[in-house]
Amino acid sequence: MDDGAVYLDYAATSAVRPEPVIAAVTEYLRGIGATPGRAGHRRAVEAGRIVFRCRRALATLFNAPGDPGRLTFHLNATHALNVAILGVLRPGDRVVRTAYDHNAVRRPVRALAGRGVHEMVLAGQTDGSVDLDEAERALRGARLLVIPHATNVLGTALPVTELAARAHAAGALVLVDAAQSAGHLPIDVQAMGIDLLAFTGHKGLLGPQGTGGLWVRDGVDLPPVFLGGTGGDSDAPDMPALFPDRLEAGSQNGPGIAGLLAGVEWLAERGVAAVHAREIELKLRLWDALDLIHGVTLLSPPAEDGVGIVTMNLAGVDAADLARRLDRDFGVLVRAGLHCSPEQHDAIGTGAVGAVRFSVGWATTEEEVDRAAAAVARIAGAEPQAPQAGS
Ligand SMILES: Cc1ncc(COP(=O)(O)O)c(C=O)c1O
Repeated sequence: MDDGAVYLDYAATSAVRPEPVIAAVTEYLRGIGATPGRAGHRRAVEAGRIVFRCRRALATLFNAPGDPGRLTFHLNATHALNVAILGVLRPGDRVVRTAYDHNAVRRPVRALAGRGVHEMVLAGQTDGSVDLDEAERALRGARLLVIPHATNVLGTALPVTELAARAHAAGALVLVDAAQSAGHLPIDVQAMGIDLLAFTGHKGLLGPQGTGGLWVRDGVDLPPVFLGGTGGDSDAPDMPALFPDRLEAGSQNGPGIAGLLAGVEWLAERGVAAVHAREIELKLRLWDALDLIHGVTLLSPPAEDGVGIVTMNLAGVDAADLARRLDRDFGVLVRAGLHCSPEQHDAIGTGAVGAVRFSVGWATTEEEVDRAAAAVARIAGAEPQAPQAGS
C-alpha cells in the first residue's frame, strides 16, 4: 500500500519490507502451502527444506556454531523469551535482569518471582548504561542473566560481552533479548558469550509477523514449555530430547518462515554492518534536526553503537496527541506511550507521561527524516511554549 505516509515505526515492526520477502510468502502459499515436517510427501518435504534453510541462514547471521537445529522457531521474541525464561528457571533460582527490559521479559520473570524465583533488577540510567560493578554483585549465585542487546526506548546497546563475562564467572547463563538488534546490529553469539538468543522476525530481520525464534547453545538443556505434536516420535509420551523438535510443538509458520528466510538473505547480501551504518546516519540526521526545535526534549542519546531510535517529547503537547497529529496532519507514523517498557521510562523520567518514539529502518530516506522533523517543527511552532532553560 502506498498511502504516502512516512513510516518511522520500524522498532515496532518493519512494515515496509523488501519485495523478495513479499514474493517468498506468496510463492510459498501458491506453490507449497503444506506444513513442514507433517508428512513425507513432496510438498511437506519442500516446506521442511525452506525451514531448514532459514535455520541455517539465521545461525550463520548470528555466527552460531554447530547444529542449526539448536535454532528453534517460535511466534515472536515474546514466545522465545518465555520458552527460555520458563525453561531455565526453577524455584530457588536467582535471575538478574535490567530496568531496560520489555514486558516480554519483565512479566514472565515477575510471574516466576511469585513462585519462588529471586529477581534482581539492575538500575537504568538516562544514557542507557549499566553499572558493571552492580551487575557483578547481583550476579553472585545467579542462575540466569537476561539483557536486551538494544533498548527499545533509548535505542542504546548494552555491553553484552562485558556482562556475559561477569555472568559466566558467577556460573550464570546469559539470555539476550535481540528483538531490537537482530538485523540492525551485528550479532556474534560466540564472541559475545551468549548462551541463549531470543529474536523476533518482523522487525530488523524483515520477515512477516508470527516469526521469531530462540538459539540455544549446545550443552544447555532446556526443558520444553510447550508440549505437543512434533510430526515424529508420535508414540512417545514425552517431547523428543533432540532439537529442534524438543522446543517446537505444533505446526510451524511455513509462509512466515519463507518470508523470514528471504529477509535474512536480503540482509546477508547487504551486510548487517552496512544496514546499521545507514540507519545510524539517518538517526543522527533526525536527532540533530529535532534538537534545533524549540520545546523538544530529546530523551535518547545520539549513540552511534545503538539502533535507529530517537525518542522525544514536545513541551506542552501530550505524547499520544503529538503522535496522533503527526499521523493525521502530516502522514508521519510513529509510536507514543510507554512502549511496553515502563521501567525504562521511569529511568528517564517519563514513566508518568510516556514519550514519542521515531525509528528508522532499511527503507528510510533523508527526505522522510526531514519531513518528520519539519512536521514536529510545525506543531511546535503552533504551540505557546515556556522558555527553555539556557535558551
Ligand atoms: C526489547 C524488546 N523485547 C521484546 C519485544 C517483543 O517482541 P515481539 O512483540 O515480536 O514478541 C520487543 C518488541 O517491541 C522489544 O522491543
